[in-house]
Amino acid sequence: MIILDQKNRVFTLHTKSTTYQIKADQYGVLLHTYYGPRVGTADLSRLIQYADRGFSPNPGEAIDDRTYSLDTLPQEYSAGGAGDFRLPSIQAELADGSRIVDLRYTGFEVRPGKYALEGLPAFFAREGEAETLVLTLEDAASGLTVELYYAVFEQYDLITRSVQVFNRGSAPVSLLQAASLCLDLQRGDLDLLTFNGRHAMERNLSRAPLRPGVQGVGSVRGASSHQHNPFIMLCEQDAGEDHGLCWGAMLLYSGNFDASVERSQFENSRLVMGIHPRHFCWTLEPGQSFTTPEAAMVCSPSGFGDMSRQFHRAIRTHLLRAPRAKLHKPVLINSWEAAYFKFDADKLVSLAQEGAKLGVDLFVLDDGWFGIRNDDCSGLGDWEVNGEKLSGGLASLIGRVQALGMGFGIWIEPEMVNENSNLYRAHPDWVLTPADRPRSRGRSQLVLDFTRRDVRDYIYESLKPVFAQPGLSYVKWDMNRSLAEVWSPALPAGRQGEVYHRFVLGVYEFAERLRQDFPHLLIEGCCGGGGRFDGGMLYYTPQIWCSDNTDAMDRLRIQYGTSFCYPVCTMGAHVSKVPNEQTGRVTPLETRGTVAMSGTFGYEMDLGRTTPEEKKMIKEQVRFFKEHYDLIQQGDYYRLSDPFTAPYTAWEQVSPDKTEALVSLVYNSHQANGPFRTLRMKGLDPNAVYWINGGELWPGDVLMAAGYPLPLFMGDYQSIQLYLKAKS
Ligand code: DGJ
Repeated sequence: MIILDQKNRVFTLHTKSTTYQIKADQYGVLLHTYYGPRVGTADLSRLIQYADRGFSPNPGEAIDDRTYSLDTLPQEYSAGGAGDFRLPSIQAELADGSRIVDLRYTGFEVRPGKYALEGLPAFFAREGEAETLVLTLEDAASGLTVELYYAVFEQYDLITRSVQVFNRGSAPVSLLQAASLCLDLQRGDLDLLTFNGRHAMERNLSRAPLRPGVQGVGSVRGASSHQHNPFIMLCEQDAGEDHGLCWGAMLLYSGNFDASVERSQFENSRLVMGIHPRHFCWTLEPGQSFTTPEAAMVCSPSGFGDMSRQFHRAIRTHLLRAPRAKLHKPVLINSWEAAYFKFDADKLVSLAQEGAKLGVDLFVLDDGWFGIRNDDCSGLGDWEVNGEKLSGGLASLIGRVQALGMGFGIWIEPEMVNENSNLYRAHPDWVLTPADRPRSRGRSQLVLDFTRRDVRDYIYESLKPVFAQPGLSYVKWDMNRSLAEVWSPALPAGRQGEVYHRFVLGVYEFAERLRQDFPHLLIEGCCGGGGRFDGGMLYYTPQIWCSDNTDAMDRLRIQYGTSFCYPVCTMGAHVSKVPNEQTGRVTPLETRGTVAMSGTFGYEMDLGRTTPEEKKMIKEQVRFFKEHYDLIQQGDYYRLSDPFTAPYTAWEQVSPDKTEALVSLVYNSHQANGPFRTLRMKGLDPNAVYWINGGELWPGDVLMAAGYPLPLFMGDYQSIQLYLKAKS
């Protein structure tokens, strides 16, 4: 709900449990007055204190009021160069060479429904599901105008934001930064939570108190990255999973990003999130505008778990698009860890056949099916079937897989090219690197210039016959290197600062085309695992391969971190063989199944090499997953323990009506003569009585308050699943 107090120029955004408030003050400075638990609609600028502060200058209008300074006030969208020395949200070089942007409020508009962003991923809503507020600010001297967009999704406690910058002046402007979100909280005693890692170990949670100065995370790799995720949180220092005030912010963007927080001299915390200003410079000719990617915020007065569930519900309902995201997704078997590059059609069909016998729905042919591709050094860019491996072509292979009663999926990596490819030999100038410089290779490949429509068109047209293959129902879109020596011949020297962002826009355009032309295809995103796991890609690819690390124990930590923002139904997760290919660890098949089925679920191993007992267990895992699909994929997700500190990792999905729940638990390691333990559950109906795995009956209030006694196991990495069904 958006409440306007036009007299006092106060804008209050209420969600179910939170309030966000903005005020244009007497000088037109747009102040952020409050974001926290829901309160009334009173003007909360009374919270702001004014004092004469040395070295915090006073703007012209304040004349000799030395208590008024942009440097001390909570700003709604901070600008650089006019007396606020904290993190800027917008920076620009103007025609006279100055970098002064001084924004003042000029007007507002309220619109029904949700604003849309052309060419960019964004939450969507029908009228009645969200409301939009637009606030306009202007730098009078240059004519630079900024529109701040807010959409309020009341029932999810979600507020989305985007910013459009217009050059309404008469000379070109170089935009050096345009953040999507600025959030000034009038307190410094907060913790910062970020999700960090590396290839094959993404999104490990890190938590630390804010220290004075600037701290944060970001990426300049051209993708949102394995190293840091464009989702971060702030919270009260005593906040935890089930209590305390916290704020989560996600950026729907798949390229270079920055999320920085400054704890300032007077204990204000400012979060600024958006496209990374490093390597960014966008020329705005008079009359032109620039739109930032969307950011989305959830504030929860009741801890991290509640915040995550709000993000999950909002993402499932308003970011993942129909038709594919809304249909049941198949259990798949992927050829990668089973065959790598060494296969022929018979081998693939035999992999599929074993899956079909066990109830798997879809066979995915991973890398190696095209060009001359017997390893990862050649072939990328040549999207014709490798006739030596697949002599009958794709149609014949798909036919054979379909005859097993399975769907067929295929791997692509459209943004890349190997120098050893026909494509590169024909178009060496299509890569995103100057010809006269030594160039970095990543996985022996170069990056295609996806800022160029002609390059994208060529790749799209060469892949189109593949997308159009009758029987194809799934595509895995991979991306296996970071961008370096970035330069595009398609842009003049003065516009090279636009290349990284134009590359991402090119990726989005390609993805949207694919989605529009082939709406029946389920597209799984991938970037060497989870290097582009972000809200931007999720708009096009409703599931993303979570990590190249398929080890169940490492996955517990990766999926735990991922779950803070992203729902289970988005996390690509497979059971693979042991010893695990990435860690060498041996974990029980039961545990591998328990972990992978809290994701999109599939297998990535040669099922033909499993024992009859293992086959029986796999068949049962697939059956169980399908039986409880809605609960697992759409249920409310509760983290029951922290895998970094607890002796076990446990989590739970609860159906919205609380009549069903699935509790999963994996022990880290076994100790002789170990302690007795109970597991306290969450989110159940305290008045209901639940059957546990169809055996004992337990009251919901007891399971939540006292817990359930855990069995004593022998051996490392053991797991249990408890299916709870309320007695009617
Ligand atoms: C990286 C992906 O994450 C893997 O799953 C696999 O598809 C390989 N690329 C193939 O090259």
